Amino acid sequence: MHELILSQYKTLKSENLHIDLTRGKPSSSQLDLSNALLSTAVEAFSADGADIRNYGEPLGITEARQLGSELLDSPIENTIAAEQSSLLLSFQLLLANYLYGMNGRPWKEIENPKFICPTPGFDRHFKMLEEFGIQMLPVSLVGDGVDLVELADILDKHTDIVGIISVPRHSNPSGDIYSDNNLLKIFELCSNYSKDLVFLFDHAYLIHDLSSAPQQSSTWSLAEQANVIDQTAILTSFSKVTFGGGGLSFFAGGESTLALIKKIRASMIICPDKVNQLRHVTFFQNKENVINHMKKHAALIQPKFELTISILDQMPQECGNFSNPTGGYFITYKTTKPIATKVIDICKQAGVLITPAGATFPYGLDPDDSIIRLAPTFVEAEELEKAMQVFSTAVQIAHFDLEV
Ligand SMILES: Cc1ncc(COP(=O)(O)O)c(C=O)c1O
Repeated sequence: MHELILSQYKTLKSENLHIDLTRGKPSSSQLDLSNALLSTAVEAFSADGADIRNYGEPLGITEARQLGSELLDSPIENTIAAEQSSLLLSFQLLLANYLYGMNGRPWKEIENPKFICPTPGFDRHFKMLEEFGIQMLPVSLVGDGVDLVELADILDKHTDIVGIISVPRHSNPSGDIYSDNNLLKIFELCSNYSKDLVFLFDHAYLIHDLSSAPQQSSTWSLAEQANVIDQTAILTSFSKVTFGGGGLSFFAGGESTLALIKKIRASMIICPDKVNQLRHVTFFQNKENVINHMKKHAALIQPKFELTISILDQMPQECGNFSNPTGGYFITYKTTKPIATKVIDICKQAGVLITPAGATFPYGLDPDDSIIRLAPTFVEAEELEKAMQVFSTAVQIAHFDLEV
């Protein structure tokens, strides 16, 4: 059996492959779904008379805020429609907390501010926090949110925890959908710890469901129920709905987080791109059409997830296990042995690029060297199949310690 794996790997390597599975990007056929946006003509004025060609409307045009509020289930007064990046909004919120703080206690004045980071998580979140000198405290994801015992323990052991950042639906990369109960418990534990602790929800995959995705109460409604709206910020964007880097982003926050984001944005951007906002609103009209549009994305993505899972299914179970997500952009493979770095290197030697081992952990440190993030959406099926064959042989080569 081992000879067969080695010979499969050698054959694949001789094909001179160049396949990139590193980032969760939409494929070009997904982008084609929004091509009408490229030629959508817009009026010069929004419905309530704002001149979209000029400065003004720093919180976004009313109809874009309305769409954001429908998606996030937040009141329109608490919702901002911004420019094309929700990551930028996250950064702005962190910066505002760093400079001003929620209740007059800026993080820059705290000697060692800390953030709770559910892991595995999004490398760019960790990079941002590191840049602010915020110490990251990992807490494990367990399928339906964070490990609550671990969370309680962390809160018990540490002072100066100023926030928690999470992706509550189709988490990147584990695919976790936080249960309502898990979110309510997080709210309870963390708000008992501090009324200044920021709940930063990056809902990047809010509407990115595959066919079997379960329902989830809106994060806004749960935060309201837990009486923590003031400390809460919820973000999403159209980066994987229309165009990467060419969509819209939305922010919903309670009194304190909203005031902070408004304040920081007032000093860095006069107003968002209202032309693109009106173009998107003209294209979509309402939430229902956005959801229908996402079903078309799902129809293109689902076969790729199924193909990836079918190849992972054929691998010996002793090598590891994997997530079978109901949406989002990633599949996580967890090796049984501490060999993630080695697997990724073996893949690279055969021309298949995978997100570096450790990237999904704070400071790039996966304590078990076992988590591998697979991003199956960008490449077309034929290449994906090849890449997954390489991955399958690479895992087995590393697991059985074979000589390549
Ligand atoms: C969890 C998460 N947040 C944010 C982003 C980026 O979003 P945006 O393009 O809106 O900045 C991504 C993109 O991969 C992501 O996975």
